[in-house]
Amino acid sequence: MKKRPIIIDTDPGIDDAVAIAIALFSEELDVKLITTVAGNVSLDKVTYNTLRLLKFFQKEVPVAKGAAEPLIRPLMDASNVHGKSGMEGFDFEEPDDHLLLEENAVNAMRRVIMESDEPITLVPIAPLTNIALLLKVYPEVKANIREIVMMGGSASRGNKGVMSEFNVATDPEAAKIVFNSGLPLVMAGLDVGWNALVLPEDSAKLPQLGEVGRMAYCLFQKYRGGSMKTGLKMYDSCAMAYLLKPEMYEIAETYVDVELAGTMTAGCTLVDLKGYLGQPNNAKVCMSINQELFRTWFLDCIARCI
Ligand code: BDR
Ligand code: CA
Repeated sequence: MKKRPIIIDTDPGIDDAVAIAIALFSEELDVKLITTVAGNVSLDKVTYNTLRLLKFFQKEVPVAKGAAEPLIRPLMDASNVHGKSGMEGFDFEEPDDHLLLEENAVNAMRRVIMESDEPITLVPIAPLTNIALLLKVYPEVKANIREIVMMGGSASRGNKGVMSEFNVATDPEAAKIVFNSGLPLVMAGLDVGWNALVLPEDSAKLPQLGEVGRMAYCLFQKYRGGSMKTGLKMYDSCAMAYLLKPEMYEIAETYVDVELAGTMTAGCTLVDLKGYLGQPNNAKVCMSINQELFRTWFLDCIARCI
């Protein structure tokens, strides 16, 4: 089977770590490049975490460092959710820098996209700063991008603000550029993540599923995205779930825009299901996920890793 070429843009991040594992060990995806962006913790930390993960997974994927800050706003990280390092809870081996490119994320993405025989899918699971910069600096890449499948935004309420989700609210200006880019876009938002759960009985199985399962189990002890007792939310895996098993979702094609000016709602995604804004559709929005299917799929994916 021909694998689908993707670039993951990420800020690991505990849920990023498992999403990356799922992509790297999948038979259907070919991860051409991983780019890093400041988000859950600083750029240096998320880049270091990405290198730590790749060493642990024994995967040789090039890594390029991207933006250290959102386009306009100061970075407000999520170390309260993922721990000080961004990936607390597991003792990773020290990586070297051989996978780290000298090119920055935007130039590396441009090169990989332009050189690819097949259109590339971008999979941002972090603030959209790098993707916005890429589309503005090198608009010619659009011709060879198949679609953007992102984790971010929400069709209901938020986790960073009352109405705003972390990845979009961290850099709303970047998110607005991406939503208005004209590229096919899939949004797997926070509210589907609330049902993409690893329940206590699932967590208990992880250590028996291999090295990655054991790692996930350890990281999950420190992850504040939900609770070990009521279920942990696998937000970033929702993007991979769309790529690998889209039938888990109910999807609406609609128009989405990002609030920039709201004094209390900046970074809110307006999922305009009823067409109030009178704009043509620009996104497929995941509206719900089948929790049972997700749980089985997630454990199967982890079992397929080392
Ligand atoms: C998103 O925010 C981050 O903390 C997670 O890694 C995920 O990408 C969920 O809102
Ligand atoms: Ca993330």
